[in-house]
Amino acid sequence: FAEQVLGGKRVVVSAGPTYEDIDPVRFIGNRSSGRMGFAVAGAAARAGAQVTLVAGPVSLATPFGIARRVDVRSAAQMHAAVTEAAQGADIYIGSAAVGDYRPNSTAEHKLKKHDGADLTLQLAENPDILASLSAIEPHPFLVGFAAETQNVEKYARDKLQRKGLDMIAANQVGEGLGFETADNAITLYWADGSLELPRTDKAALARQLIECIASRYKAVRG
Ligand code: PMT
Repeated sequence: FAEQVLGGKRVVVSAGPTYEDIDPVRFIGNRSSGRMGFAVAGAAARAGAQVTLVAGPVSLATPFGIARRVDVRSAAQMHAAVTEAAQGADIYIGSAAVGDYRPNSTAEHKLKKHDGADLTLQLAENPDILASLSAIEPHPFLVGFAAETQNVEKYARDKLQRKGLDMIAANQVGEGLGFETADNAITLYWADGSLELPRTDKAALARQLIECIASRYKAVRG
């Protein structure tokens, strides 16, 4: 960065998947590798921010310059860690793919098969981390991600409004983009604008994303 566009700011970034345990050996998860969120956290640190990175279960090294990393497993743990880290923070960037549901209960012992009978799992909805942050005043400038396979702009703008966000970074997943991949492409939306960031590697994309977040943050929060 030519200038430290986030100099003196406290930024919290979430990254990676969450795992919701079914029993001691099985879980419900998703395909997030954490690469996008780790790139965003690294770019924010290079832009001068004091960064807390809340990471789901991933196998990635902590990017250079990160002030604090908190490793979590479940959506409930991520919710607690983000809520704590976001106290007094200036910006929260939710890059994590948080599980929307968890098993109603986690079995103490490994579940056994029952002669061809179907197995039904009851799922309970997880709290929405972004929506719960936006309900607290004052709260950080909130940036969400939206991973969509279709109707990207419509679903992203719905989430922007419903979750009370300042900005949302929408990515179409599939075809070598989004989850697990080295590259991504993003369109950023805010109430009265948008910016397209074409396909490139996640490190380069994260730098552009941070430039845009810093400029919107300055416009809205001064
Ligand atoms: O990790 P990679 O392999 O690099 O892949 C990157 C990515 C595709 C995971 C990332 O770019 C991305 O899009 N992350 C968000 C994925 C997602 O879960 O989107 P969503 O549409 O389900 O959620 C929307 C937003 O709400 C996200 O900011 C999410 O963090 C947040 N959320 C969701 C559920 C929940 N209970 N609490 C939340 O805060």
